[in-house]
Amino acid sequence: MTSIDVIPANPRRKPLHPDISEDMIDRLVKAFYAKVRAHDRLGPIFDTVIGDKWEEHLPKMNDFWSSVTRMTGRYKGKPMVKHLKLKQVQPEDFDIWLQLFRETADELLPPDIAPIFISRSERIAESLKLGMFFAPVEKPK
Ligand code: HEM
Repeated sequence: MTSIDVIPANPRRKPLHPDISEDMIDRLVKAFYAKVRAHDRLGPIFDTVIGDKWEEHLPKMNDFWSSVTRMTGRYKGKPMVKHLKLKQVQPEDFDIWLQLFRETADELLPPDIAPIFISRSERIAESLKLGMFFAPVEKPK
């Protein structure tokens, strides 16, 4: 378990911006995954794993972003564990993912809110990549 696998519901933690709404998150998530599914490289990766379960995946992603940006604690999953199982993903795929996410956030979110989502996505992507691709070097005895 890593820090991104734990997003606690902490009443003392305030939303990253007071205007972030569930409706905003819902529109972002829908539009982003529509782009992901249409993408030549990412589409097949997601479709192989998610198949016909998109109605389950999208609400989970709403919960995830709600927890990350509004501190609601709605997301209960373990993203690192899930991504470690995705053997077909390459480090460069994260650049595509981030590019699509940035594009969608800039298109749909107010200019003072888009950068908040984008910077979180970059931090989380970095953390996932470390877990997926960079095994710790064993210390010499
Ligand atoms: C190349 C980049 C990425 C690929 C190909 C990818 C692919 C996937 C796939 C296929 C799943 C479904 C896993 C399953 O249900 O077993 C998934 C779940 C998920 N992804 Fe990603 N992902 C990527 C990057 C990211 C990033 C950067 C974030 C966060 C900012 C993220 C957040 C999540 C979350 C929260 C889940 C749900 C995990 C759960 O079931 O609780 N992913 N991803």
